[in-house]
Amino acid sequence: MQPKVTVIAVDGPGGAGKGELCIRLSRKYGFAILDSGAIYRVLAYAALQKNIPLDDEEKLTVLAQNLNLSFREVNNAVAVMLDNEDVTSGIRNEAAGNAASKVAVLPQVRAALLQRQRDFAVAPGLIADGRDMGTVVFPDAAVKIFLDASAEERARRRVSQLALRGVKADYDSILREIAERDFRDRNRATAPLKPAEDALVLDSTTLSIEEVVETAVTFIESKLAS
Ligand code: C5P
Repeated sequence: MQPKVTVIAVDGPGGAGKGELCIRLSRKYGFAILDSGAIYRVLAYAALQKNIPLDDEEKLTVLAQNLNLSFREVNNAVAVMLDNEDVTSGIRNEAAGNAASKVAVLPQVRAALLQRQRDFAVAPGLIADGRDMGTVVFPDAAVKIFLDASAEERARRRVSQLALRGVKADYDSILREIAERDFRDRNRATAPLKPAEDALVLDSTTLSIEEVVETAVTFIESKLAS
């Protein structure tokens, strides 16, 4: 018999706090994390390296099918590897996020990445972080959470995160980029960003990370008990 795999899907727009929530849940439940956004980011990164236009669906699909991507744990942090190169810092900026959201509109590209994402679901469980985890990739997930926050608050958080790293960022241009990416993610025809019908929609705009985790854990416990 296959061991039972518990999937907790955490969807929502960029900057709502999904990453931190997923880390806390992963520690609490001992489940691995799937950072599905990193997969789209690496695909866009690889495409730019190979001079493949970000709207060339045919070439991008072949690239997605053959993408040699892996996650490696280094000193308690996760490094994203493309072939054998650590591309973590190259994919973690606004431009890479925007490029990722361009390749992510293409249905065949999404289809090519579907099984790769599902393969991450192994016992005892998985925390799946993304845009369509609860709607498309893991529609049978035991728990679905949609973490939202206003675009202004997400821009403020991003600016302070960058400041902590010594990077001075302009609030208005960050807000513009967030709005542009949100629009593309929410309005694409395939797997648009939206809460699953059975998701807990949690608005973190005025909540601390502790409050978000507490609310999420209460919901998870009630779902797992039923
Ligand atoms: O979560 P992250 O900001 O890393 O995602 C980058 C982009 O990848 C998103 O803006 C979205 O367009 C795309 N994405 C997606 N489906 C997912 C995860 C990310 O379309 N499950």
